Amino acid sequence: MIPENAGPAAVIVLAAGAGTRMKSRTPKILHEIGGLSMVGHALRAARSINPQRLAIVVRHERDLVAGHVSALDPDAVIVDQDDVPGTGRAVEAALEALHAEQGLTGTVVVTYGDVPLLSGELLDELVAAHERDGNAVTVLTAVLDDATGYGRILRGEDGSVTGIREHKDSSEAERLIREVNSGIYAFDAEVLREALGKVTTDNAQGEKYLTDVLSLARAAGGRVAAVVTADRWQVEGANDRVQLAALGAELNRRTVEAWMRAGVTVVDPATTWIDASVTLDEDVRLLPNTQLHGATAVARDAVVGPDTTLTDVTVGEGATVIRTHGSGSVIGAHAAVGPFTYLRPGTVLGEQGKIGAFYETKNVTIGRGSKLSHLGYAGDAEIGEDTNIGCGNITANYDGEKKHRTVIGSGVRTGSNTVFVAPVTVGDGAYSGAGAVIRKDVPAGALALSVAAQRNAEGWVPANRPGTRSAELAQAATKNSSSTPASTEEGK
Ligand code: UD1
Ligand code: CA
Repeated sequence: MIPENAGPAAVIVLAAGAGTRMKSRTPKILHEIGGLSMVGHALRAARSINPQRLAIVVRHERDLVAGHVSALDPDAVIVDQDDVPGTGRAVEAALEALHAEQGLTGTVVVTYGDVPLLSGELLDELVAAHERDGNAVTVLTAVLDDATGYGRILRGEDGSVTGIREHKDSSEAERLIREVNSGIYAFDAEVLREALGKVTTDNAQGEKYLTDVLSLARAAGGRVAAVVTADRWQVEGANDRVQLAALGAELNRRTVEAWMRAGVTVVDPATTWIDASVTLDEDVRLLPNTQLHGATAVARDAVVGPDTTLTDVTVGEGATVIRTHGSGSVIGAHAAVGPFTYLRPGTVLGEQGKIGAFYETKNVTIGRGSKLSHLGYAGDAEIGEDTNIGCGNITANYDGEKKHRTVIGSGVRTGSNTVFVAPVTVGDGAYSGAGAVIRKDVPAGALALSVAAQRNAEGWVPANRPGTRSAELAQAATKNSSSTPASTEEGK
């Protein structure tokens, strides 16, 4: 039984090409925009129309591309194209892999792996027009100012589509045509299979052209039509890195605009970059130079930025995250992070907690209301609730071989520059003195001190640094203050 919302019989994504103009060791379609590879975007659009089968044709860097595709879409059928070149051959290979000869019927959609802005909505429109009008072939076209390189749409006197002429095969007159073939089509499966059997390589490029199917289908009595889109971005491919950046910027512009329409304040859309995979609640505020990547999710009333990059970070309601670089972390509701804070994976900050300026954290759980306000490192640690970690505290978690855990309780107050030499545990309500080096567990309620008595060597500077500004000032100060205590030694 075919469900009511069933889409076309198949989508075939063409992705066998080499993409040499990218000048990259990475296959072209694996290059990313908006946090997802180009082929990832193509697969998403293809899946969104709910096809019964999804095939992708590969050849260049076959294993890399196939591995990437399978990771993103395990149900996609990977099809290998042989040495016969051309888009027609690619589709033929896919039909074979889908056992079309055993009676594949209905609509077959063809798209490209390097056209990342194509939306599911436009594909839906194409399929709907194709099926509504009972077409043999429906091609998606666009009218461009500069059509150089594209296949041109040939139309008869009555305006009906008669075929496609490749740029290299076209006459002077045909080159003036500005309506181009996007390379995206809906076909009737049987028409497609029969026509491909007749396509030859007799053309300027010696390739099996998929585009020849249009005139063959028409000759066989089928209806051939076009859906013209006014949105050229949706049919644009990236052949080099200049086009990749332009497509990336346009995708981001669309993403940011959609979030603003959904109730997110974006102070500076031009410097705000949001991956397609990010989710934002109403009344989130994003300040300039903010980049949100991966599975980042920001809850209502949170303020992120300026100058903040978050990857896979969950930001709780009403939290603030200022000038922060974070990944793989959770920031609780109404918590505060930044400025100049580095959150590494495994950081979990509780509600109303704080990780302040010049802090680095990693693999640490911080309880509700606890504050790590200034200058420090907390790694492989667990901190309870309402604990205040003083300025400059460090968890010494690495012994040169292994990492060890620091466990700090609730209601703890640590003095400035406390060092926790892990593994070590500090009980609830304990205190530490400034400069304490905690090597042994601290029981609940204890004050931990590691006191090295201070000794002042009187007159050392004038004696050892004679003639310096320090020595001069010291001598002047000693002369003026006869009331200076004879001994300033601490701890007596
Ligand atoms: C193709 C169309 C052209 C259209 C243009 C739009 C043909 C003959 N021409 O031209 O009318 O205006 O796209 O961009 O179809 N591919 C394979 N196997 C191959 C060759 C290509 O899978 O043997 C894939 C490529 O990876 C790419 C797509 O098909 O995704 C298009 O290939 P490309 O070489 O860019 O086609 P064009 O010659 O530009
Ligand atoms: Ca192309």
